[in-house]
Amino acid sequence: MIFAANFKMHHTRQSTAEYLDRLEALMEAAEYPFKVMVFPPATALQSSRDWITVGAQNAYPAKEGAYTGEIGLSQLEEFGIDTVLLGHSERRRILEESQEFIAEKFAFFAEQGLQIVYCVGEPLEVRQEGDEAVAEYLWEQFDGIDLDYERLIVAYEPVWAIGTGRAAKEEEIAATHAELRRRIKRPLLYGGSVNPLNIKAIAAIADVDGVLVGSASLDPESFHAMMSVVAPPQV
Ligand code: PGA
Repeated sequence: MIFAANFKMHHTRQSTAEYLDRLEALMEAAEYPFKVMVFPPATALQSSRDWITVGAQNAYPAKEGAYTGEIGLSQLEEFGIDTVLLGHSERRRILEESQEFIAEKFAFFAEQGLQIVYCVGEPLEVRQEGDEAVAEYLWEQFDGIDLDYERLIVAYEPVWAIGTGRAAKEEEIAATHAELRRRIKRPLLYGGSVNPLNIKAIAAIADVDGVLVGSASLDPESFHAMMSVVAPPQV
């Protein structure tokens, strides 16, 4: 099971370091069988810890160059960053990243051998049209993406469930993950209002191999609480 924390534009360099110290301390006693990732803002990138992989929320598909305001491979390498999140709906919608550009990023970072957490998700009006429309929409978000890339992790995050406190229903998650599983053999994460109260049920759904958590990951106690719900520490 994978637990990934997406800080978005929250936390600073200092508070991220404190967060990682605290989460590490909380995890220390438990020996969780989990893969844990934290995606802080670019200014807070730092080395991974023993049990916590630090990844980038975004990066430009070049080693370095004349790309004002961006960070590229050189800047990731300075911190040993080996994991990048791509295709998040906030970047697709707010930053207007096209599928073509996201696929270009994917190809570049896959070529460099990085682990890629690749996000897809439908807006509410598509969900309201039913499972078939959702499937069609999601597969279009895989245009130009190598589904067989061995370091691929996919995160299904319905746009209407992100930051709304309204996670998708268990049957919606199950049906969508089953659809994605037809062609994707790599881990499938669910994201969208995952919290300590709904994590147990979500983690139990077939084909859910982990979660990508925003709001409820910002406090290390809350993020850790989700882990201990799924695998209560043995005393
Ligand atoms: P949320 O965000 O947990 O706050 O809904 C999830 C995400 O956007 O990755």
